[in-house]
Amino acid sequence: MTDLTPAGAAALDAIDPLAGFRSAFVHDDSDPDLIYLDGNSLGRLPTASLDLADDVLRRQWGRRLIRSWNEGWFETPQRIGDRIAELVGAGPDEVVLADSTSVVLYKAAVAALKARPGRTRILTDDLNFPSDIQVLRAAAEAAGPDHEVVVLPTDSIHGPVAGLADALVGQGGADVALVSLSHVAYRSGWCWDLAATTRIVHEAGALVLWDLCHSVGVVPIDLGAADADLAVGCTYKYLNGGPGSPALLYVNADRTELRNPLRGWYGSDDPMGFGFDAGPADGASRFLTGTPPILSTALVEPGVDLTLEAGMDRIRAKSVALTERFISLADLHLAPLGFEVRTPRDPGQRGSHVALFHAEAQAVSQALVNEALVISDYRPPDLVRFGFAPLYIGFTDVDEAVRRTVDIVESGGIDRWRGVQPVVP
Ligand SMILES: Cc1ncc(COP(=O)(O)O)c(C=O)c1O
Repeated sequence: MTDLTPAGAAALDAIDPLAGFRSAFVHDDSDPDLIYLDGNSLGRLPTASLDLADDVLRRQWGRRLIRSWNEGWFETPQRIGDRIAELVGAGPDEVVLADSTSVVLYKAAVAALKARPGRTRILTDDLNFPSDIQVLRAAAEAAGPDHEVVVLPTDSIHGPVAGLADALVGQGGADVALVSLSHVAYRSGWCWDLAATTRIVHEAGALVLWDLCHSVGVVPIDLGAADADLAVGCTYKYLNGGPGSPALLYVNADRTELRNPLRGWYGSDDPMGFGFDAGPADGASRFLTGTPPILSTALVEPGVDLTLEAGMDRIRAKSVALTERFISLADLHLAPLGFEVRTPRDPGQRGSHVALFHAEAQAVSQALVNEALVISDYRPPDLVRFGFAPLYIGFTDVDEAVRRTVDIVESGGIDRWRGVQPVVP
């Protein structure tokens, strides 16, 4: 039996092999009570990023000026991509940093559609990030007037495993060019079986494009073993790369037929030849377009280093333990107050965040942020999301977040925050 008392949490923190990583991140001394459960939206700032930013600005840009392109800048998207490749089971040259997730998703989706001529359908599900669906629709539009995006319905918690299999083998299955899914769903935290899903997509003759935004750095991923075709993902969530840091893009080395629909000099085999007819660069680099944003690209590295040092096995073990504990405590203390767990209870089917339903989720979320100093977030119309980043969240934080949530509801905090809605909820 798990000890769900504060003493039980303290005991787990005392033997946590990742506890030391907490001090590798900046914490605001003037806000010691803050509990940050939104690392699934924006990760914390690694302390190493402070020195790196200083070096990139003062020395690399300030003193070395344009010479820095020959002193490491030019290879930055590939060099850090190769480090991320170690986290996602990819090989050298299969991962680059570029653009934003939305933009590389578009490039990847158009490339996949063009590689399956005669097939006109993209399959996704309604757990997918809404912006992804907008991007996929734009990609379908770019590929031709007969192309369409089919959004499979779900129970809003679990992925449509049977529905996807049916759609691939049933009527219209032979029209499917591409299946694009979020590995971990942004709302419910549902986690697809990446290998099994990739297999059935391939059996149907289609390509697969994974969105790893909510899984990279917190869920073990082996794109190579799964033989996945394409993947994209944010680096500013569990990889702690900083607000708006560039996305990761994975392109399977064997899929040489995939072509960047937005070609430009940085994705060519001769960027400094200034010719009109340069061919594509090797590997995932062919999906680059223009000059990479060096400041934000360089700052992705410290968070990736910390994740590699901690190791995905230890990160995953702690992530499961944190979410298990939060769910147990939510059942015990929050269910009587109108909360309901809306995340898969099977740890094998979830990532590292937990969504709780509450009829007044918006007011709960605002009260938590503004009065209880528990930074979570609100996803309309009725979910509060709690993200557990194993590198800097402990078991005591979990217990304390639940205790403060109980307190904020029982003390009437909800009444004070009804209708208050900041730009970013
Ligand atoms: C699952 C998922 N996909 C795509 C995106 C879009 O990323 P970006 O705005 O960096 O393009 C996000 C952003 O939060 C996301 O969570």
